[in-house]
Parts: sequence; C-alpha cells; structure tokens
Amino acid sequence: MSLIAVVFLFFAHVSAEPMRFDGHKVLQILPHSVEELEHVLQLHDVLDLDMWRYPSKNNFSMEMYVEPEKIDHVLTAIKAIGADVRIWIDDLQKLIDEEKQPAKRSFHLPFASQGKNAGFDHLAYHRFSTIKQYLADVVTATQAMSTVTSSLSTIGYSSESNEIQVLKVSRSDGQSRPSIFIDGGIHAREWISPATVLYFINQLVYGDEFDYAPQLLDKFDWYFAPVLNPDGYEYSHTTYRLWRKNRVPNGRNCFGTDLNRNFGYQWNPSVGGSTNVCSDVYSGATAFSEKESTALETFLLNNNQNMVAYLTYHSYGQMWLYPWGYTSALPSDWQDLDAAAKIGTSALSELYGTQYTVGSSTNVLYSAAGGSDDWAKGGAGVKYSYTIELRDTGAHGFVLPQNQIEPNCRESWRGLAAFALSLNTRKG
Ligand code: ARG
Ligand code: ZN
Repeated sequence: MSLIAVVFLFFAHVSAEPMRFDGHKVLQILPHSVEELEHVLQLHDVLDLDMWRYPSKNNFSMEMYVEPEKIDHVLTAIKAIGADVRIWIDDLQKLIDEEKQPAKRSFHLPFASQGKNAGFDHLAYHRFSTIKQYLADVVTATQAMSTVTSSLSTIGYSSESNEIQVLKVSRSDGQSRPSIFIDGGIHAREWISPATVLYFINQLVYGDEFDYAPQLLDKFDWYFAPVLNPDGYEYSHTTYRLWRKNRVPNGRNCFGTDLNRNFGYQWNPSVGGSTNVCSDVYSGATAFSEKESTALETFLLNNNQNMVAYLTYHSYGQMWLYPWGYTSALPSDWQDLDAAAKIGTSALSELYGTQYTVGSSTNVLYSAAGGSDDWAKGGAGVKYSYTIELRDTGAHGFVLPQNQIEPNCRESWRGLAAFALSLNTRKG
C-alpha cells in the first residue's frame, strides 16, 4: 500500500469513528509550595495542557489531561519542578466505554405521570436531534394540560446553523411571574449538564416526587436552554469526546471559542482565557464574538425585566458558584447569593449526602473572565446568578457514567427547588 493510501485510510477512519483514548491519562499533580504551583501552571500554559480540575487557594492539587505524545515530557518536567505526580485516570477509553453502559433501572422515574414521556429516556445521554424532538414533544403534551403551558423559541443559531432553543414553562393563566433562566451545555463535553436541564423540564411539566412543581410554577415563569452549544455537543458525540468549545473555524486549522470566556462583562482573555485560537480556553476575538453567546445575550436582555435568577449548569466538581469570576472581589449583595446557594446545596445533600462547595468562582476555583454568570449579573442585572458544577469530584470527571444521571438529577432538582422556593420575590 502506498503511503498516500495509508494516509487516506487513516483520515477516512478518524472521520467516521470517534477518536479513541486508549492509554490516555489524567494526571494528579500536587505542588508543595506556591513556587512549585506557579511552575506547574507555566508548564500548563506553555504546552496548552487541558486542566480538568484547577488548583485553588486551599488545595494546590490539580488534575490534568495530557495527550500521550506529551506525557514523557510532562512527567519529566513535573519531577524537575519537584511536585508530586500520580496517574489519576489510567485509561480514558475505559471510562468512555463504561459511560456507554446503560443505567440499571433500579428505580421508577419520579414523576406523577409516568409513561407520558414514552420515547425519551432521562437516564441516558442523547444526541442533539433527540433532545430537540423531546422539547417539541413537551410542547405538544402541555397543549393537553389545563394548568401548565410551554412554548419553544429559537433564540439564535450556532456557527454550524443548529438551533439554540429556549423552552418556556409556566402556568396557563396568562399572568406573568418573576422568572428563572436555566441553561446547560455551554461546554460540549459536560454531558451531564443537558441531561440535568432536561430532567428539570420533565419534573416541572409532569410533576415530581416531592411535589415541588406546583409551588415552583405558582411562583415563577421558567426558561430552559438545555443545549447552548449544539455544535460542540454533537462534535463531542461524533468525533472527540473531550471537546469543550464551540466549533467556529478560527484559522490556523483550529476550531472553537470557549463560550464561557466570551461573555461581555469585564471580558479579558488574560484572566483565565487565551488569545491563542488553538487553546481550549480561547476567549474569542472580542466579547460576544460568538453566535451562541450573542443569542443568550439578546434573549436575556429582552426578558430580564423580572428575572430573579440565572443558573448555568456545568460539570464537574460539585460546586455552587456565584460571581465574580473575573476578580476575587465580591458583589455587594454576595451574602444574599451565598445564603440562597447554601439552602440549595443543603437540600441537595439530603438525598445521598453529596457535598457541594459554595463560594465565589474566583475564590473557590480560579479567576476566569468572560463567564456567562458574571455577565448575567453584571450585564443583564439578574441578581441570583450561579454556575453549578455537577457531579462528580473527579473519579470520572466529564465522563460521568450513565448510572449516575439519576442520582445526580434527583438531588439537583431538590437543590434547585429548595433554592428557588427560598427566594424573596417581592420587589423593593
Ligand atoms: N468551570 C467553569 C469554567 O471554567 C467555571 C466558571 C465559573 N465562572 C466564571 N465566571 N469564571 O468556565
Ligand atoms: Zn463547563
């Protein structure tokens, strides 16, 4: 076989099948001092490594995905720095294979009207087209309901022309209520995020085991955007499981802008983002350079009159974070946000004991400017703005097995409900 034929077959293969991660590793690195930490972070920047879990003020340890061709170099460099390093995930492909295993159905889905949603399995990860069909089906189903209504709008299109949809769920009495906006899937590979938002929709529309839905509908109008980054989401299914950004072509044969570095409140690539088009945290050419972030901007600015909360679901790390992400300073009303988040996380932990950390994203995590949470608060004026990092704490990271969808969603719904019901919606 000629070399050209070999090269051709190679590309034919990679385009048809998702890339495999056999033997790919995630390292856990533990610097002993601030100096060692800084050296490791420099190495991360220079080699453009993919940080899965960042170090924080109180905990210098971090998890880093390293491509096989870089691994020897990285291990040598880390040892020279003096930091401890160990293999955290030994074979990423094994996790990806396990993720595909269907969840064991030990449990009956917790909503009053079981079976009404035949055809959509909330305990599995789905392709974008299946999700769109589900949303359309919800709209049809609520047409036959007397007390709840829903409507679907396309708030914009992605760079590859996929719809960015928002489902509004409310009482059907025609009254307008204070609203809550929830999105998922800003980052492509965080599959548990769209799954969680879809589960919320289901609980609210069809009723839930705790009977929160009636109170939540009496109190709020609800907006859900389950997949804000459909191109990236699809790419993470078809081609590269660990894709994070959108899929806009940026030149130099590099694709994608990190949408969560692209929002226009204190936008600054040098704070946790990048000006390198190939970087995983590329901030975009300007604030709101991306169609996906602009779609959300336009929608929120048109609907923020009485919007009390914005929640954006990500994974992983089990954190309930509030602004700011661009600075370690806190908003003047941070104590309100902190108290409401703690009501959410303590209700969440009641089911399985799952522990969440509450705090400002800079103080709990790391500073990163251009996040949607900072913009929702600073730009759109939504008081209770949060980024929620779902399960787990790193055992599977982004590749959360399907059998964790159900406990993750149940506890998250309970946390969301307790949080929302605690909010004071009286004006003034
Ligand atoms: N994991 C998220 C990210 O890196 C955290 C975002 C927190 N919010 C923020 N404004 N930095 O995008
Ligand atoms: Zn994320």
